[in-house]
Amino acid sequence: MTGTLVGVGVGPGDPELLTQRAVRAIREADRVLAPSSAVDAVGRAESIVRQACPGVRIERLVFAMGQASGSVEDAAQVVVAGLDAGQQLAFVTLGDPNIYSTFSSVAARVRELRSDAVIETVPGIMAFQELAARSATVVLRDTERLALVTALDGPDALAGALADPDQAVVVYKGGRHLPAMAKALASAGRLDGAVFGELMGLPGERVVPVAEAAEGPAAYLATVIVPPSGR
Ligand SMILES: C[S@@+](CC[C@H](N)C(=O)[O-])C[C@H]1O[C@@H](n2cnc3c(N)ncnc32)[C@H](O)[C@@H]1O
Repeated sequence: MTGTLVGVGVGPGDPELLTQRAVRAIREADRVLAPSSAVDAVGRAESIVRQACPGVRIERLVFAMGQASGSVEDAAQVVVAGLDAGQQLAFVTLGDPNIYSTFSSVAARVRELRSDAVIETVPGIMAFQELAARSATVVLRDTERLALVTALDGPDALAGALADPDQAVVVYKGGRHLPAMAKALASAGRLDGAVFGELMGLPGERVVPVAEAAEGPAAYLATVIVPPSGR
């Protein structure tokens, strides 16, 4: 008996952004697994699924802060036990499961433990796509390029990506660095047109120009789009 692990992207926050394929994968699964920061905390992906698929039972996989590898190992063990029992497992994750997602780490460990495991993904709408739509930002046209980067290493890591005027830059995980990022954009002449989306589709959301949010740090769930400046 072999089961299947499906990484299901649930979009950035608004339950209307779950695709029909995602809803079907969730409804057809024997078990739905969702990452969470604690056993008694409702994670973002779980909250989206609760709204989009009422009645579906969700099991939490705890990913404790600062214990990433132990959490991935524990989650992989849960998944492997399910696969060995022939179960269809849906692992729900924010945005797309192939972009900066915990799912990739869990899937890689499952692959090490069961080389023949069937692992699939269902794409999800990404945070920056929602931000582009909400802020009426054309991200790319003609032969322009896109760099998707994180600000985890600080705003200095953005300089290279900003140097090319025909390249749009999308920044993930930059909430705490927002004031410094705004300064970096201004010095590169890229502040005009740059937009910021925080907690999109979730309580407390903001979608504004970067210049209007630059006075203080933002939440972890914050995305910035810097459109090409060479248009
Ligand atoms: C762990 S990554 C997940 C990315 C996700 N897999 C995707 O495809 O969009 C988390 C980052 O995604 C962005 N993000 C995800 N959901 C968001 C939301 N609702 N509002 C703003 N940014 C969001 C933020 O940049 C956040 O730091």
